[in-house]
Amino acid sequence: MKGPERHERIRRILQTVSKNGGQLDSKAFYEAAKKEGFKSFGVSGAFFSRQLVESKDEKIALTERGKAYLENKTMPAMTGVRTRVKQPKEATPAGQNQPKQELFIKTKDYTTFCAGVDANKNVLLIGPTGSGKTLMARHYCQAHGQNYKRVNLNGGATVEDLVGHWLVKNGNTEWCDGILTEAMRKGNFLVIDEMNAATPEVMFVLNSVLDDDRMLVLVQKDGEVVMPHPDFKVVATANPTEAGVYAGTKEMNEALLDRFHLIVYVDYSEKVENAILEASGLVEKDRARVKLFAKKLRQAFNQGEVSTPFSTRSIANMAGLLKQGDGELILNRFKLNEKGVVRELYKTIVKADQLPKDADIVVGDANAATV
Ligand SMILES: Nc1ncnc2c1ncn2[C@@H]1O[C@H](COP(=O)(O)OP(=O)(O)OP(=O)(O)O)[C@@H](O)[C@H]1O
Ligand SMILES: [Mg+2]
Repeated sequence: MKGPERHERIRRILQTVSKNGGQLDSKAFYEAAKKEGFKSFGVSGAFFSRQLVESKDEKIALTERGKAYLENKTMPAMTGVRTRVKQPKEATPAGQNQPKQELFIKTKDYTTFCAGVDANKNVLLIGPTGSGKTLMARHYCQAHGQNYKRVNLNGGATVEDLVGHWLVKNGNTEWCDGILTEAMRKGNFLVIDEMNAATPEVMFVLNSVLDDDRMLVLVQKDGEVVMPHPDFKVVATANPTEAGVYAGTKEMNEALLDRFHLIVYVDYSEKVENAILEASGLVEKDRARVKLFAKKLRQAFNQGEVSTPFSTRSIANMAGLLKQGDGELILNRFKLNEKGVVRELYKTIVKADQLPKDADIVVGDANAATV
């Protein structure tokens, strides 16, 4: 099926769905698609129909692609409607979906985290970027041979991504579980990153899963109730929400916060950073340079001199780069307008023959307290 004929059929499908009381019903969409002879229809088809339904107007202010589509012109690449079939994932045997062993330094926070997870509590990890939140969860899974799954809510994850959606496959309408439903059925360890960036619709779904009975109702699938596998675990992470620092994140809704039995604040840890530096293979003098560079940058960050945080992740990266003789590449992660200040700091601390004294280096305010 090609060109105008195909477009006409899709137009009819979209019209059918738009008559459905202004509500998107993805099952109705896929049923209509099936009736029009489509064998397979991807998720973005539903997205496209939602745009149409919400606007209640065929001349919807869509993207240029969408407009071209409705005006029956040729569909540009990456259209709103695709024919790719999303295949349900095969079951992964326990322990198989695990990342390779990586350096992990245990901390008191990790002990608290493990106790919470072992007791089946909902755990929320809050901390600045690159402080080890995700790594904690990943390490727990490695240590316990559990399947680790992760979803980042800052990447525009939708309710469909979490819960699931209908698709037409080989002429049949099939339900495809989303990452949350799959994790609940199979007993995976689900990490929900950047929880505070969730849309209200996603928050609504998560609220019910985090309730004490931990159950999920698939409204889109005739109200099927999914009860969690005994091994199912869910851990959320969030960055603190100081104004301007993590733009785009929202204050966490009180009702959601209340559902976490345990909140662990994971900050940058000197113990962890020292251990990372020791494991990096850098000589002591270079390790001291990285530490001083990080300390001064954090000081500058706290004073608003630079806007890029220098995290434990940055320390690990910098150590790796220095070890391979490319230390200066660390400057690439800073914004153009702050690169000058950071380059100066790099020259003074990392490139100088002698490691300067802490007190001799001031970035920005000369009276600033050290961190
Ligand atoms: N306890 C630790 N042991 C070893 N390495 C660590 C530890 N904590 C942090 N790191 C280093 O910091 C990096 C970043 O960790 P991680 O991805 O868990 O941060 P995060 O807090 O989840 O950050 P974000 O908020 O940006 O998602 C790791 O890849 C590792 O290099
Ligand atoms: Mg993370």
